[in-house]
Amino acid sequence: MKEQLERIRSSAMEELAQAKEIADLEALRVRVLGKKGELTAVLKMMGGLSAEERPVMGQMANAVRAEIESRLEERKTELAASALEDKLRREAVDVTVPGEAVKQGHKHPMNTALDEAKEIFIGMGFKILEGPEVELADYNFTKLNTEEGHPARDWSDTFYLKEDSSVLLRTQTSPMQIRAMEAIKNPPIRILAPGRVFRKDEVDATHSPMFHQIEGLVIDKGITMADLKGTLETLVKSLYGEDSVVRFRPHHFPFTEPSCEVDVQCFKCHGEGCPTCKGEGWIELLGAGMVHPKVLEGCGIDPEVYSGFAFGIGLERMAMRRFKISDLRLIFENDIRFLEQF
Ligand code: PHE
Repeated sequence: MKEQLERIRSSAMEELAQAKEIADLEALRVRVLGKKGELTAVLKMMGGLSAEERPVMGQMANAVRAEIESRLEERKTELAASALEDKLRREAVDVTVPGEAVKQGHKHPMNTALDEAKEIFIGMGFKILEGPEVELADYNFTKLNTEEGHPARDWSDTFYLKEDSSVLLRTQTSPMQIRAMEAIKNPPIRILAPGRVFRKDEVDATHSPMFHQIEGLVIDKGITMADLKGTLETLVKSLYGEDSVVRFRPHHFPFTEPSCEVDVQCFKCHGEGCPTCKGEGWIELLGAGMVHPKVLEGCGIDPEVYSGFAFGIGLERMAMRRFKISDLRLIFENDIRFLEQF
């Protein structure tokens, strides 16, 4: 029995010395000291010993167990330390290697133009609103005095999202006029609502099926067409300079009366006519007009007491004029070589 204990001790010690991983130690502990382990098996045989031998063997067995246990702990600490050292070495960072510069981007020219416009209107007391791109036909058309069957409902070539034409991708930001009036209720109202709009347009130098508009709405007592003209002229002159040429042209929109379109003289040809302005010499910038009494009434605002004007600016066209970009497609292609110029 003594020899057996000695063998267990020496083989355990040898194995411990060679162990490479903490998992090896655990396996050894179970095999030698565990409930069904080698040492336990020897202890179980002690019943067959004489009364004198038993305490001697017991003592020896305990000593072997204690020695193995303490060596196990020692090795555990050693292996853990060397594992940590390995890990640190593997993950070491050479702080002397030169870093890679992080390239900082900048605002997209269209956002620059939008922020400039927002600044100008905030200066005039406007609040900025945002609204849904997936819109009810009710808000995009009906409440804007554009009844079912009205040609506008297909001339604008709408992306409808429901068979019954009740839900669509908004074709204009004008539904925000309705949403603003319903939300604010009591004039004065002075809001600006920029956002994406969608139409089934073919892509060319001035058209895209997705583009951006900035809707504006002012409602108060005594608002006239003169306020509309003054506000929009202020916008155009602050954006493009005092000498920029603006033209107000009569037009028709179902939700404004009277209505107009505002053009700026083409920045490329200064009115001569070129591909950028399709030979017209002018670039259409926005639609506007005095809010139709029916629209006011539908939103619970008394047209006998209040009046107002609204406008819808084409943001891309504004940015194109602002940065002298001659093709709309460049704005959406996100070619870094293009964007880096602004
Ligand atoms: N929503 C119109 C368009 O998309 C523009 C507009 C806005 C006209 C507000 C009048 C008033 O063409």
